[in-house]
Amino acid sequence: MSELVRLTDITKVYQGGITGALNGVSVTVERGEFTAIMGPSGSGKSTLLNLVAGLDRPTSGSVEVGGTDLGKLGEAGLARFRRDHIGFVFQFFHLLPNLTALENVLIPAQLKGTVVPGRARELLDLLGIKEVADKYPARLSGGQQQRVAIARALINNPTLLLADEPTGALDMHSGEQVMELLGRLHRDGQTILLVTHDAKLATRHAARVLSVLDGKIVDDARLESPERTASEVIRVRSEEASR
Ligand SMILES: Nc1ncnc2c1ncn2[C@@H]1O[C@H](COP(=O)(O)OP(=O)(O)OP(=O)(O)O)[C@@H](O)[C@H]1O
Ligand SMILES: [Mg+2]
Repeated sequence: MSELVRLTDITKVYQGGITGALNGVSVTVERGEFTAIMGPSGSGKSTLLNLVAGLDRPTSGSVEVGGTDLGKLGEAGLARFRRDHIGFVFQFFHLLPNLTALENVLIPAQLKGTVVPGRARELLDLLGIKEVADKYPARLSGGQQQRVAIARALINNPTLLLADEPTGALDMHSGEQVMELLGRLHRDGQTILLVTHDAKLATRHAARVLSVLDGKIVDDARLESPERTASEVIRVRSEEASR
């Protein structure tokens, strides 16, 4: 594995903020890792994710992704970086209501000037929702909307998939399905950074858990994840059996 993300002594003080939202965070993430970020409300999880996404800038410290120091990029460069390297999934989906599922998935590709409806349909199929392609978001369940949002995040083949509480607005079953999907993407090589409140979901699917408290990383745990190993064995066995 090789390093993909390097945060060096990051602080973030929002305008009007008395204490820092992040206070001296240093951490690296390897390519192919599935890392969960956990911590109480207000501890700085979203702030951390937004800095890695290039959606915001730190007050001090540096953010490097794939060897690029984001602090050296201007606004246009940062927008290009996000478009080409980052897929972002939000808690409340953020689909455009007046576009169909397929059209929503295609937005980042269009911003890049590519026309890839075949790829968009392929992604919807991969995520198990090809039948919703021509439907509008209001006609879809929360779980379906989130899977459309994941397809949209993946359309430009991002180096890094970031997800901020992607199961937070879903019922337990849909949340499980979304996490299963993220796990599958990870097994196919996708690097994922996920913020979640749900320790059970985090430890079942991610191989590493960063705990954030008061703007600091207070624990960095790499998990053996026996459940994951077990489900992998079952998957391989059932594939072998169906041959
Ligand atoms: N745009 C902003 N302007 C000012 N303060 C902010 C802003 N965004 C976040 N904060 C503050 O920074 C701190 C960290 O917020 P952040 O959103 O990163 O927490 P979080 O861990 O994601 O919380 P939650 O679990 O509730 O989503 C909080 O004290 C919050 O009030
Ligand atoms: Mg948050």
